[in-house]
Amino acid sequence: MQFHILTLFPEMVENGLQTSILGRAIQKGLIGIHAVNIRDYTQDKHNKVDDYPYGGGAGMLMQAQPVYDAWKAVAKPAEGKKPVRVLFMSPQGKTFSQEMAKELAQEEELIFLCGHYEGIDERVIEEIVTDPVSIGDYVLTGGELPAMVMIDAISRMVPGVLKNEDSGVTESFQENLLEYPQYTRPEVWEGKKVPDILLSGDHARIDKWRLEKSKERTKARRPDLYEKYDLSGRALEYLLK
Ligand code: ADE
Repeated sequence: MQFHILTLFPEMVENGLQTSILGRAIQKGLIGIHAVNIRDYTQDKHNKVDDYPYGGGAGMLMQAQPVYDAWKAVAKPAEGKKPVRVLFMSPQGKTFSQEMAKELAQEEELIFLCGHYEGIDERVIEEIVTDPVSIGDYVLTGGELPAMVMIDAISRMVPGVLKNEDSGVTESFQENLLEYPQYTRPEVWEGKKVPDILLSGDHARIDKWRLEKSKERTKARRPDLYEKYDLSGRALEYLLK
């Protein structure tokens, strides 16, 4: 999976995605991070990429031309291939979710467009963006952190990126349930003991206990998710019995 990130701060994205699991995935060639500096495409003699908004108002806007030319430099679809999707990081987009991460992980290439300042000239957004995406109902200073959040979530859905193929599946949000509590050594810490059942070696009972804990937790912490589980997951649970 190749990620192209159009940004004014390429080093932020490059540095932020080189560590740990994603760093290893890059080394193995499972994912590629290609940060493109939008400023490299300005035609302004002072290297400017922003200007005042028509009609007045606070702050500066990124101009259409450098964004468009940066996009053109990476978005050349190979013969017979469909155009690469352009995800625009914006609080006005559709809210990112695990389901979207899974769906986007099917693509071979993705382009992330990161705005800064007060936004980007609407005309270039209309021209190139296929999917406006938000990471939640709060406003950040730029699209770089949202792009990094999304790249992380999408990458772990790419086959081979996680060591244990299973762990992308048995986790929070699978079947709309949050993950059950987990414990490691020592057996007793600060007087708190690991639940006996986890030491029993009885895997059928452990699975049942984990499902119960997941349900309890989801009901208490995320009643909205539990409602969805109740609709879809119960049928599955019945089939597994
Ligand atoms: N840019 C600024 N805030 C954002 C958000 N919440 N999600 C995506 N992009 C953003």
